Amino acid sequence: MDKIIVEGGASLEGEVKISGAKNAALPILVSSLLADGWNTYSNVPDLKDVKSIKQLLLYLGAKVETDGSTVRIDGGGLCKSEASYDLVRKMRASILVLGPLVARLKKAKVSLPGGCAIGARPINLHLKGLARLGASIELKHGYVEVSTEGLRGSEIYFDIATVTGTENLIMAAVLADGVTVLRNAACEPEIVALVDVLNKMGADIHGAGTSVITIKGVQSLRPVSVSIIPDRIEAGTFMVSAALTRGNITILNCEPTHMGAVIHKLRLIGTDIKIDDKKIHVVGSDEIESVDIKTLPYPGFPTDMQAQFMVLMSVAKGLSNISETVFENRFIHVSELKRMGADITISGNSAMVKGVPMLLGAPVIATDLRASASLILAGLVAKGKTEVHRVYHLDRGYEAIEKKFSQLGASIKRVPE
Ligand code: EPU
Repeated sequence: MDKIIVEGGASLEGEVKISGAKNAALPILVSSLLADGWNTYSNVPDLKDVKSIKQLLLYLGAKVETDGSTVRIDGGGLCKSEASYDLVRKMRASILVLGPLVARLKKAKVSLPGGCAIGARPINLHLKGLARLGASIELKHGYVEVSTEGLRGSEIYFDIATVTGTENLIMAAVLADGVTVLRNAACEPEIVALVDVLNKMGADIHGAGTSVITIKGVQSLRPVSVSIIPDRIEAGTFMVSAALTRGNITILNCEPTHMGAVIHKLRLIGTDIKIDDKKIHVVGSDEIESVDIKTLPYPGFPTDMQAQFMVLMSVAKGLSNISETVFENRFIHVSELKRMGADITISGNSAMVKGVPMLLGAPVIATDLRASASLILAGLVAKGKTEVHRVYHLDRGYEAIEKKFSQLGASIKRVPE
Protein backbone atom coordinates (compact mmCIF):
# COMPACT_ATOMS: atom_id res chain seq x y z
CA MET A 1 0.00 0.00 0.00
CA ASP A 2 1.29 3.50 -0.81
CA LYS A 3 1.43 6.61 1.30
CA ILE A 4 1.55 10.21 0.12
CA ILE A 5 4.01 12.64 1.67
CA VAL A 6 3.22 16.34 1.42
CA GLU A 7 5.50 19.16 2.50
CA GLY A 8 3.21 22.14 3.10
CA GLY A 9 3.67 25.79 2.33
CA ALA A 10 3.75 26.17 -1.46
CA SER A 11 1.32 28.55 -3.09
CA LEU A 12 -0.10 26.54 -6.02
CA GLU A 13 0.04 28.05 -9.48
CA GLY A 14 -0.61 26.92 -13.03
CA GLU A 15 -3.14 24.91 -15.01
CA VAL A 16 -4.78 21.62 -14.15
CA LYS A 17 -6.89 19.48 -16.46
CA ILE A 18 -9.91 17.82 -14.91
CA SER A 19 -10.59 14.14 -15.68
CA GLY A 20 -13.88 12.47 -16.54
CA ALA A 21 -16.33 12.12 -13.66
CA LYS A 22 -16.14 8.84 -11.71
CA ASN A 23 -19.79 9.00 -10.73
CA ALA A 24 -20.88 9.56 -14.32
CA ALA A 25 -18.51 6.96 -15.79
CA LEU A 26 -19.70 4.15 -13.50
CA PRO A 27 -23.41 4.12 -14.46
CA ILE A 28 -22.63 4.93 -18.10
CA LEU A 29 -20.21 1.99 -18.45
CA VAL A 30 -22.87 -0.21 -16.83
CA SER A 31 -25.49 1.02 -19.33
CA SER A 32 -23.52 -0.87 -22.02
CA LEU A 33 -25.26 -4.01 -20.70
CA LEU A 34 -28.53 -2.69 -22.12
CA ALA A 35 -27.54 -3.10 -25.79
CA ASP A 36 -25.74 -5.50 -28.12
CA GLY A 37 -22.70 -4.16 -29.98
CA TRP A 38 -19.66 -2.02 -29.23
CA ASN A 39 -20.09 1.24 -27.29
CA THR A 40 -17.20 3.69 -27.24
CA TYR A 41 -16.63 5.87 -24.18
CA SER A 42 -13.99 8.60 -24.21
CA ASN A 43 -12.64 10.74 -21.33
CA VAL A 44 -12.98 7.76 -18.95
CA PRO A 45 -10.86 8.38 -15.84
CA ASP A 46 -8.18 5.85 -14.92
CA LEU A 47 -9.43 4.98 -11.43
CA LYS A 48 -9.66 1.92 -9.23
CA ASP A 49 -13.48 2.11 -9.20
CA VAL A 50 -13.54 2.20 -13.01
CA LYS A 51 -11.27 -0.88 -13.11
CA SER A 52 -13.61 -2.63 -10.66
CA ILE A 53 -16.69 -1.93 -12.76
CA LYS A 54 -14.89 -3.12 -15.94
CA GLN A 55 -13.97 -6.35 -14.10
CA LEU A 56 -17.59 -6.83 -13.10
CA LEU A 57 -18.83 -6.22 -16.65
CA LEU A 58 -16.29 -8.74 -18.00
CA TYR A 59 -17.42 -11.27 -15.41
CA LEU A 60 -21.04 -10.79 -16.49
CA GLY A 61 -20.09 -11.64 -20.07
CA ALA A 62 -19.46 -8.24 -21.68
CA LYS A 63 -16.38 -7.62 -23.82
CA VAL A 64 -14.19 -4.74 -22.62
CA GLU A 65 -11.25 -3.02 -24.35
CA THR A 66 -9.27 -0.10 -22.92
CA ASP A 67 -6.98 2.24 -24.82
CA GLY A 68 -5.87 5.13 -22.58
CA SER A 69 -8.96 7.10 -21.62
CA THR A 70 -11.10 5.35 -24.24
CA VAL A 71 -13.05 2.29 -23.18
CA ARG A 72 -15.04 0.11 -25.58
CA ILE A 73 -17.66 -2.26 -24.23
CA ASP A 74 -19.92 -4.73 -26.00
CA GLY A 75 -22.73 -5.80 -23.66
CA GLY A 76 -24.02 -8.37 -26.16
CA GLY A 77 -22.40 -11.33 -24.41
CA LEU A 78 -24.25 -10.67 -21.14
CA CYS A 79 -24.94 -14.12 -19.73
CA LYS A 80 -24.35 -14.12 -15.98
CA SER A 81 -26.78 -12.49 -13.60
CA GLU A 82 -24.75 -12.55 -10.41
CA ALA A 83 -22.48 -9.97 -8.76
CA SER A 84 -20.53 -11.55 -5.91
CA TYR A 85 -19.80 -10.25 -2.42
CA ASP A 86 -16.14 -9.68 -3.32
CA LEU A 87 -17.03 -7.38 -6.23
CA VAL A 88 -19.73 -5.41 -4.42
CA ARG A 89 -17.69 -5.13 -1.21
CA LYS A 90 -14.85 -3.52 -3.18
CA MET A 91 -17.17 -0.94 -4.68
CA ARG A 92 -20.74 -0.19 -3.61
CA ALA A 93 -21.56 1.24 -7.05
CA SER A 94 -21.54 -2.38 -8.33
CA ILE A 95 -25.18 -2.33 -7.24
CA LEU A 96 -25.79 -0.35 -10.45
CA VAL A 97 -25.82 -3.61 -12.44
CA LEU A 98 -29.05 -4.62 -10.72
CA GLY A 99 -31.34 -2.56 -13.00
CA PRO A 100 -29.74 -3.59 -16.33
CA LEU A 101 -29.53 -7.28 -15.29
CA VAL A 102 -33.23 -7.44 -14.43
CA ALA A 103 -34.11 -5.48 -17.58
CA ARG A 104 -32.21 -7.82 -19.88
CA LEU A 105 -32.06 -11.22 -18.15
CA LYS A 106 -35.22 -10.90 -16.02
CA LYS A 107 -33.21 -11.92 -12.99
CA ALA A 108 -30.28 -10.80 -10.87
CA LYS A 109 -28.48 -11.95 -7.76
CA VAL A 110 -26.35 -9.20 -6.27
CA SER A 111 -24.58 -9.11 -2.92
CA LEU A 112 -26.06 -6.58 -0.48
CA PRO A 113 -23.44 -3.84 -0.12
CA GLY A 114 -23.71 -3.40 3.68
CA GLY A 115 -22.61 -0.25 5.49
CA CYS A 116 -19.42 1.65 4.77
CA ALA A 117 -17.21 4.25 6.41
CA ILE A 118 -19.59 7.14 5.74
CA GLY A 119 -22.93 5.58 6.74
CA ALA A 120 -25.35 2.65 6.60
CA ARG A 121 -26.19 3.34 2.96
CA PRO A 122 -29.10 0.91 2.47
CA ILE A 123 -30.51 0.04 -0.97
CA ASN A 124 -34.12 -0.33 0.17
CA LEU A 125 -35.32 2.38 -2.23
CA HIS A 126 -33.68 0.66 -5.24
CA LEU A 127 -35.52 -2.54 -4.24
CA LYS A 128 -38.89 -0.89 -3.53
CA GLY A 129 -38.70 0.71 -6.96
CA LEU A 130 -37.94 -2.60 -8.68
CA ALA A 131 -40.88 -4.18 -6.84
CA ARG A 132 -43.13 -1.39 -8.21
CA LEU A 133 -41.95 -2.35 -11.70
CA GLY A 134 -43.20 -5.91 -11.10
CA ALA A 135 -40.08 -7.66 -9.83
CA SER A 136 -40.12 -10.03 -6.89
CA ILE A 137 -37.37 -9.50 -4.39
CA GLU A 138 -35.89 -11.93 -1.90
CA LEU A 139 -33.07 -11.31 0.55
CA LYS A 140 -31.09 -14.51 1.21
CA HIS A 141 -27.65 -15.18 2.67
CA GLY A 142 -26.51 -11.60 2.19
CA TYR A 143 -27.70 -11.45 -1.42
CA VAL A 144 -30.68 -9.78 -3.03
CA GLU A 145 -32.36 -12.01 -5.59
CA VAL A 146 -34.61 -10.28 -8.07
CA SER A 147 -36.74 -11.98 -10.70
CA THR A 148 -39.58 -10.98 -13.00
CA GLU A 149 -41.73 -12.28 -15.83
CA GLY A 150 -41.15 -8.89 -17.45
CA LEU A 151 -40.90 -5.38 -15.97
CA ARG A 152 -43.92 -3.07 -16.37
CA GLY A 153 -43.89 0.72 -16.18
CA SER A 154 -45.17 2.22 -12.95
CA GLU A 155 -45.18 5.31 -10.71
CA ILE A 156 -42.31 5.30 -8.23
CA TYR A 157 -41.89 7.79 -5.40
CA PHE A 158 -38.50 7.93 -3.67
CA ASP A 159 -38.73 8.74 0.05
CA ILE A 160 -35.19 10.15 -0.25
CA ALA A 161 -33.66 11.42 -3.49
CA THR A 162 -31.05 8.74 -4.17
CA VAL A 163 -28.45 9.11 -6.91
CA THR A 164 -27.60 5.48 -7.72
CA GLY A 165 -31.20 4.49 -6.85
CA THR A 166 -32.51 6.87 -9.53
CA GLU A 167 -29.90 5.57 -12.01
CA ASN A 168 -30.73 1.93 -11.26
CA LEU A 169 -34.45 2.48 -11.72
CA ILE A 170 -33.96 4.42 -14.97
CA MET A 171 -31.88 1.54 -16.35
CA ALA A 172 -34.47 -1.01 -15.19
CA ALA A 173 -37.40 0.93 -16.68
CA VAL A 174 -35.83 1.80 -20.02
CA LEU A 175 -36.75 -1.55 -21.62
CA ALA A 176 -39.92 -2.13 -19.53
CA ASP A 177 -43.39 -2.40 -20.97
CA GLY A 178 -45.11 1.00 -20.62
CA VAL A 179 -44.37 4.28 -18.89
CA THR A 180 -42.50 4.75 -15.61
CA VAL A 181 -42.61 8.01 -13.68
CA LEU A 182 -39.94 8.58 -11.01
CA ARG A 183 -40.94 11.20 -8.42
CA ASN A 184 -38.52 12.88 -6.03
CA ALA A 185 -35.78 11.59 -8.33
CA ALA A 186 -32.22 12.81 -7.74
CA CYS A 187 -31.22 15.76 -9.98
CA GLU A 188 -27.42 15.37 -10.08
CA PRO A 189 -25.60 16.17 -13.36
CA GLU A 190 -24.41 12.55 -13.44
CA ILE A 191 -28.06 11.47 -13.85
CA VAL A 192 -28.52 13.90 -16.72
CA ALA A 193 -25.32 12.48 -18.28
CA LEU A 194 -26.63 8.90 -18.00
CA VAL A 195 -29.99 9.86 -19.48
CA ASP A 196 -28.30 11.71 -22.37
CA VAL A 197 -26.41 8.49 -23.16
CA LEU A 198 -29.54 6.31 -22.89
CA ASN A 199 -31.53 8.66 -25.13
CA LYS A 200 -28.71 8.53 -27.66
CA MET A 201 -29.01 4.73 -27.46
CA GLY A 202 -32.68 5.08 -28.47
CA ALA A 203 -34.39 5.45 -25.08
CA ASP A 204 -37.33 7.80 -24.53
CA ILE A 205 -36.63 9.60 -21.24
CA HIS A 206 -37.72 13.09 -20.20
CA GLY A 207 -37.18 15.26 -17.15
CA ALA A 208 -33.63 14.28 -16.14
CA GLY A 209 -32.18 17.05 -13.99
CA THR A 210 -35.60 17.63 -12.39
CA SER A 211 -37.27 15.64 -9.63
CA VAL A 212 -39.78 14.01 -12.02
CA ILE A 213 -38.36 11.71 -14.68
CA THR A 214 -40.58 9.97 -17.22
CA ILE A 215 -39.32 6.85 -18.99
CA LYS A 216 -41.29 5.38 -21.89
CA GLY A 217 -40.11 1.81 -22.32
CA VAL A 218 -38.65 0.88 -25.73
CA GLN A 219 -38.07 -2.52 -27.38
CA SER A 220 -34.29 -2.31 -27.66
CA LEU A 221 -31.32 0.04 -27.52
CA ARG A 222 -28.32 0.47 -29.83
CA PRO A 223 -24.67 1.09 -28.93
CA VAL A 224 -23.24 4.64 -28.84
CA SER A 225 -20.05 6.71 -28.84
CA VAL A 226 -19.97 9.26 -26.02
CA SER A 227 -17.62 11.31 -23.87
CA ILE A 228 -17.80 11.29 -20.06
CA ILE A 229 -18.59 14.68 -18.45
CA PRO A 230 -15.87 16.37 -16.33
CA ASP A 231 -15.62 15.52 -12.64
CA ARG A 232 -17.17 18.40 -10.67
CA ILE A 233 -15.80 17.08 -7.37
CA GLU A 234 -12.25 16.83 -8.66
CA ALA A 235 -12.59 20.37 -10.06
CA GLY A 236 -13.97 21.58 -6.72
CA THR A 237 -11.09 19.95 -4.85
CA PHE A 238 -8.52 21.83 -6.98
CA MET A 239 -10.47 25.08 -6.55
CA VAL A 240 -10.29 24.62 -2.78
CA SER A 241 -6.53 24.00 -3.07
CA ALA A 242 -6.13 27.40 -4.77
CA ALA A 243 -8.15 29.16 -2.06
CA LEU A 244 -6.29 27.33 0.68
CA THR A 245 -2.76 28.00 -0.54
CA ARG A 246 -3.51 31.58 -1.68
CA GLY A 247 -2.70 30.23 -5.11
CA ASN A 248 -3.57 31.07 -8.68
CA ILE A 249 -4.93 28.09 -10.63
CA THR A 250 -6.73 27.70 -13.93
CA ILE A 251 -9.00 24.66 -13.95
CA LEU A 252 -9.28 23.32 -17.49
CA ASN A 253 -11.86 20.99 -19.03
CA CYS A 254 -14.48 21.49 -16.32
CA GLU A 255 -18.20 22.25 -16.33
CA PRO A 256 -18.81 25.40 -14.24
CA THR A 257 -22.60 25.07 -14.61
CA HIS A 258 -22.42 21.91 -12.46
CA MET A 259 -20.59 23.70 -9.68
CA GLY A 260 -22.87 26.57 -8.65
CA ALA A 261 -22.95 25.92 -4.88
CA VAL A 262 -19.19 25.40 -4.57
CA ILE A 263 -18.37 28.49 -6.65
CA HIS A 264 -20.84 30.56 -4.57
CA LYS A 265 -19.30 29.50 -1.24
CA LEU A 266 -15.73 30.03 -2.50
CA ARG A 267 -16.64 33.56 -3.59
CA LEU A 268 -18.19 34.24 -0.16
CA ILE A 269 -14.93 33.39 1.59
CA GLY A 270 -13.05 35.87 -0.59
CA THR A 271 -11.77 33.72 -3.47
CA ASP A 272 -11.62 35.46 -6.82
CA ILE A 273 -13.26 33.26 -9.48
CA LYS A 274 -13.53 33.99 -13.17
CA ILE A 275 -15.42 31.65 -15.48
CA ASP A 276 -14.59 31.37 -19.14
CA ASP A 277 -16.68 28.63 -20.79
CA LYS A 278 -15.05 25.33 -19.68
CA LYS A 279 -12.28 27.06 -17.71
CA ILE A 280 -12.31 28.43 -14.19
CA HIS A 281 -9.64 30.80 -13.00
CA VAL A 282 -9.25 30.78 -9.19
CA VAL A 283 -7.15 33.16 -7.10
CA GLY A 284 -7.05 32.69 -3.34
CA SER A 285 -7.32 35.73 -1.05
CA ASP A 286 -4.83 36.49 1.73
CA GLU A 287 -7.50 36.12 4.35
CA ILE A 288 -10.08 33.32 4.22
CA GLU A 289 -13.49 34.38 5.57
CA SER A 290 -15.57 31.76 7.34
CA VAL A 291 -18.87 30.59 5.95
CA ASP A 292 -21.49 28.04 7.01
CA ILE A 293 -22.05 24.93 4.91
CA LYS A 294 -24.99 22.55 4.76
CA THR A 295 -24.70 19.55 2.48
CA LEU A 296 -27.76 18.77 0.39
CA PRO A 297 -28.73 16.87 -2.75
CA TYR A 298 -27.93 18.72 -6.01
CA PRO A 299 -28.16 21.65 -6.66
CA GLY A 300 -27.33 22.08 -2.94
CA PHE A 301 -23.80 21.95 -1.62
CA PRO A 302 -22.36 18.46 -2.40
CA THR A 303 -21.56 16.11 0.47
CA ASP A 304 -18.56 15.02 -1.63
CA MET A 305 -17.03 18.52 -1.09
CA GLN A 306 -17.75 18.77 2.65
CA ALA A 307 -14.43 17.40 3.92
CA GLN A 308 -12.42 19.63 1.57
CA PHE A 309 -14.34 22.74 2.71
CA MET A 310 -13.79 21.80 6.31
CA VAL A 311 -10.04 22.11 5.75
CA LEU A 312 -10.56 25.60 4.34
CA MET A 313 -12.68 26.57 7.35
CA SER A 314 -10.01 25.14 9.68
CA VAL A 315 -7.70 27.99 8.67
CA ALA A 316 -10.38 30.65 8.07
CA LYS A 317 -11.04 33.76 10.13
CA GLY A 318 -13.80 33.00 12.65
CA LEU A 319 -16.36 30.27 13.17
CA SER A 320 -18.05 28.03 10.64
CA ASN A 321 -20.91 25.62 11.13
CA ILE A 322 -20.80 22.64 8.79
CA SER A 323 -23.82 20.38 8.78
CA GLU A 324 -23.92 17.09 6.94
CA THR A 325 -27.45 16.07 6.00
CA VAL A 326 -26.82 13.44 3.30
CA PHE A 327 -24.80 10.78 5.13
CA GLU A 328 -24.94 10.08 8.86
CA ASN A 329 -21.25 9.46 9.47
CA ARG A 330 -19.27 11.72 7.20
CA PHE A 331 -17.03 13.43 9.74
CA ILE A 332 -14.37 10.74 9.94
CA HIS A 333 -11.72 13.17 8.72
CA VAL A 334 -12.33 15.39 11.77
CA SER A 335 -10.20 13.38 14.21
CA GLU A 336 -7.29 13.42 11.73
CA LEU A 337 -7.64 17.17 11.08
CA LYS A 338 -7.65 17.75 14.83
CA ARG A 339 -4.36 15.88 15.06
CA MET A 340 -3.02 18.50 12.65
CA GLY A 341 -4.15 21.29 14.99
CA ALA A 342 -7.65 22.04 13.68
CA ASP A 343 -10.20 23.23 16.25
CA ILE A 344 -13.39 21.30 15.45
CA THR A 345 -16.24 20.22 17.73
CA ILE A 346 -18.82 17.75 16.51
CA SER A 347 -22.38 17.76 17.77
CA GLY A 348 -24.68 15.30 16.01
CA ASN A 349 -24.56 16.01 12.29
CA SER A 350 -22.93 19.42 12.75
CA ALA A 351 -19.32 20.43 13.14
CA MET A 352 -18.31 23.76 14.61
CA VAL A 353 -15.00 24.77 13.07
CA LYS A 354 -13.00 27.56 14.69
CA GLY A 355 -10.30 28.79 12.35
CA VAL A 356 -6.72 28.50 13.62
CA PRO A 357 -3.73 30.48 12.26
CA MET A 358 -1.95 27.35 11.11
CA LEU A 359 -2.20 23.55 10.75
CA LEU A 360 0.83 21.42 11.56
CA GLY A 361 1.94 18.44 9.44
CA ALA A 362 1.38 15.00 11.02
CA PRO A 363 1.00 11.35 10.02
CA VAL A 364 -2.70 10.77 9.23
CA ILE A 365 -4.88 7.92 7.98
CA ALA A 366 -7.30 8.24 5.10
CA THR A 367 -10.61 6.54 5.79
CA ASP A 368 -12.72 7.25 2.72
CA LEU A 369 -12.28 8.85 -0.65
CA ARG A 370 -13.18 12.49 0.04
CA ALA A 371 -11.66 12.36 3.54
CA SER A 372 -8.40 11.33 1.87
CA ALA A 373 -8.55 14.33 -0.45
CA SER A 374 -9.14 16.62 2.53
CA LEU A 375 -6.03 15.30 4.27
CA ILE A 376 -3.91 15.99 1.19
CA LEU A 377 -5.34 19.53 1.12
CA ALA A 378 -4.58 19.95 4.83
CA GLY A 379 -1.03 18.77 4.14
CA LEU A 380 -0.63 21.38 1.38
CA VAL A 381 -1.32 24.24 3.78
CA ALA A 382 0.21 22.77 6.95
CA LYS A 383 3.60 23.66 8.33
CA GLY A 384 6.00 20.75 7.87
CA LYS A 385 5.47 17.20 6.62
CA THR A 386 2.18 15.33 6.41
CA GLU A 387 2.13 11.61 5.66
CA VAL A 388 -1.23 10.37 4.40
CA HIS A 389 -1.51 6.61 4.87
CA ARG A 390 -3.92 4.15 3.18
CA VAL A 391 -4.20 6.22 0.03
CA TYR A 392 -5.94 3.42 -1.88
CA HIS A 393 -9.18 5.26 -1.10
CA LEU A 394 -7.82 8.21 -3.05
CA ASP A 395 -7.02 6.04 -6.06
CA ARG A 396 -10.68 5.02 -6.21
CA GLY A 397 -11.71 8.52 -7.24
CA TYR A 398 -8.86 10.92 -8.13
CA GLU A 399 -6.80 10.34 -11.25
CA ALA A 400 -3.08 11.01 -10.70
CA ILE A 401 -3.80 13.50 -7.93
CA GLU A 402 -0.21 13.76 -6.71
CA LYS A 403 1.05 14.36 -10.27
CA LYS A 404 -1.51 17.11 -10.79
CA PHE A 405 -0.66 18.81 -7.49
CA SER A 406 3.03 18.44 -8.19
CA GLN A 407 2.61 20.19 -11.58
CA LEU A 408 0.99 23.07 -9.69
CA GLY A 409 4.13 23.42 -7.56
CA ALA A 410 3.23 21.31 -4.52
CA SER A 411 5.90 19.29 -2.79
CA ILE A 412 4.13 15.93 -2.86
CA LYS A 413 5.24 12.39 -3.55
CA ARG A 414 3.88 8.87 -3.39
CA VAL A 415 6.00 6.21 -1.74
CA PRO A 416 5.33 2.53 -1.06
CA GLU A 417 4.77 1.85 2.65
N1 EPU B 1 -30.52 6.00 0.88
C1 EPU B 1 -31.45 5.21 1.51
N2 EPU B 1 -31.95 4.13 0.82
C2 EPU B 1 -31.59 3.85 -0.46
C3 EPU B 1 -30.63 4.68 -1.10
C4 EPU B 1 -30.11 5.75 -0.39
O1 EPU B 1 -31.81 5.42 2.67
O2 EPU B 1 -32.09 2.87 -1.03
C5 EPU B 1 -29.95 7.15 1.61
C6 EPU B 1 -28.44 7.03 1.83
O3 EPU B 1 -28.13 6.22 2.94
C7 EPU B 1 -28.03 8.48 1.98
C8 EPU B 1 -28.99 9.19 1.02
O4 EPU B 1 -30.07 8.29 0.79
O5 EPU B 1 -28.26 8.89 3.28
C9 EPU B 1 -28.41 9.60 -0.31
O6 EPU B 1 -27.66 8.52 -0.83
P1 EPU B 1 -27.53 8.23 -2.39
O7 EPU B 1 -28.25 6.95 -2.68
O8 EPU B 1 -27.90 9.41 -3.16
O9 EPU B 1 -25.98 7.96 -2.52
P2 EPU B 1 -25.31 6.94 -3.52
O10 EPU B 1 -26.10 6.86 -4.75
O11 EPU B 1 -24.98 5.69 -2.79
C10 EPU B 1 -23.85 8.69 -4.81
C11 EPU B 1 -22.38 8.87 -5.09
C12 EPU B 1 -21.68 9.29 -3.81
C13 EPU B 1 -22.30 10.61 -3.33
C14 EPU B 1 -23.81 10.43 -3.13
C15 EPU B 1 -24.53 11.70 -2.76
C16 EPU B 1 -21.99 7.31 -6.90
C17 EPU B 1 -21.36 6.07 -7.38
N3 EPU B 1 -21.84 7.62 -5.61
O12 EPU B 1 -23.94 7.68 -3.80
O13 EPU B 1 -20.31 9.50 -4.13
O14 EPU B 1 -21.71 11.00 -2.12
O15 EPU B 1 -24.40 9.92 -4.34
O16 EPU B 1 -24.31 12.67 -3.71
O17 EPU B 1 -22.59 8.04 -7.68
C18 EPU B 1 -18.01 9.63 -3.71
O18 EPU B 1 -17.84 9.80 -4.93
O19 EPU B 1 -17.10 9.79 -2.86
C19 EPU B 1 -19.33 9.23 -3.23
C20 EPU B 1 -19.52 8.69 -2.02
